[in-house]
Amino acid sequence: MKKARVAVLISGRGSNMAALIDAAKGAYYPAEIALVLSNRGDAAGLAHARMAGITTAAVEHAAYGHERESFERAMQDVLDRHGIDLVCLAGFMRLLTTWFVARWEGRMLNIHPALLPAFKGLDTHRRALAAGVKIHGASVHFVAAEMDSGPIVAQGAIAVREDDDAQTLGARVLEIEHRIYPIALGLVAAGRVRITAGRCVMEGAASVGQALSVPDAQGAGNTTQHR
Ligand code: GRF
Repeated sequence: MKKARVAVLISGRGSNMAALIDAAKGAYYPAEIALVLSNRGDAAGLAHARMAGITTAAVEHAAYGHERESFERAMQDVLDRHGIDLVCLAGFMRLLTTWFVARWEGRMLNIHPALLPAFKGLDTHRRALAAGVKIHGASVHFVAAEMDSGPIVAQGAIAVREDDDAQTLGARVLEIEHRIYPIALGLVAAGRVRITAGRCVMEGAASVGQALSVPDAQGAGNTTQHR
């Protein structure tokens, strides 16, 4: 099996990146993390990736001023040099131009800390609490031109507790993120996800189940669907 070569793009601490690196250590995992790329040389995740033996690179967005496309062309050069097949955005805090998004159409994933299409944008946990939703979670989706949109590959949901604040809720969502991102990347890298009419269609019932994580549906700690 030829593993897909994946670049993880980060801007900060990189906990989702770390989850992907861990998953990719599996002998049968269909992807390898070939590169971690950041728009900030001081991103904490870069040091973690290097310690894990992963090649890292930084393309400082600040060096390009408002030239978003030249910044992205510089990133694209790095991705080309490393023969990258798939890109995973993981806390990558730059908006991408339609040029870059089109270049990676169907080959670029993002993780968002909410059940899309609800709560696009930032500050999702505070907004979810303010809206009084009872269920919250995270989504992995293919990246489309519009922010936090694009075909959804996997979602994980948790119950909102009455005493949750944005921090406690966010911490439980982050655990879900770390679970669903490796699953989603695995499904995509294995070629088990097809995009049809703007939606993801999974190959095989097992893939459908894997892409759905609802750990506390039957009460806290009772896992129904996950690896
Ligand atoms: C995560 O909550 C992710 O969903 C969002 O940015 C955060 C990144 O965290 N897009 P980390 O750097 O992966 O720890």
